[in-house]
Amino acid sequence: MNSISNNKRKRIAVFASGNGSNLQAIVDYSLKNDINGDVVFVLSNNPSAYALERAKNADIKSICIDSKKFVSRQEYDREILKVLKNENIDLICLAGYMLLFTLDFINEYLNKLINIHPSLLPSFKGKQAIKDAFDYGVRITGATVHFVEFEIDNGPIILQEAVQVSEKDTLDELENKIHKVEHRIYPLAVKYFCRDELKINGRKVSILERS
Ligand code: GRF
Repeated sequence: MNSISNNKRKRIAVFASGNGSNLQAIVDYSLKNDINGDVVFVLSNNPSAYALERAKNADIKSICIDSKKFVSRQEYDREILKVLKNENIDLICLAGYMLLFTLDFINEYLNKLINIHPSLLPSFKGKQAIKDAFDYGVRITGATVHFVEFEIDNGPIILQEAVQVSEKDTLDELENKIHKVEHRIYPLAVKYFCRDELKINGRKVSILERS
């Protein structure tokens, strides 16, 4: 028996607007490893997100709340908060969720909201991080898992891994390399969170691996 046995098992929600390959990576890892948590809920703002199909295939409760049907972001986030309250969510993982949150939402889930970003933050923030790094001609880029705070792509960093950009890489090849790294580090970060192995001190996050 490991030392996490007394920790409450965490209920994880994943928010995704598109393909959901990171959702899949977290689900697959959680089924094969003792992460002390389960993906119990998937939310999308996009009715045609493949992530919803993945949730269905994995027998995970999912909901699509179409952001286009709401007049303001405040109203949309209020609706999501209502839905989340009923699910008793301990951790929200953003996995290609393309909407920004209101401050109220972030406040509600501060330190329980994490994101994956396809660059070595603080370099290449924003929606086109892989292309921006590729166009810039960097030789090293990567992926970052971080807590979400009030400024975009700026919260305390949990894990990062570098990816070499070779001269021969096309943009597609670089994207594939980065996604592979994402699929490795995101589930690990989720595991650390669920096992209460992350300690945040200001901007710094330390990882207390127990086994
Ligand atoms: C990933 O590259 C992630 O870093 C970014 O959005 C992409 C989502 O991909 N935030 P997927 O939907 O998980 O396949």
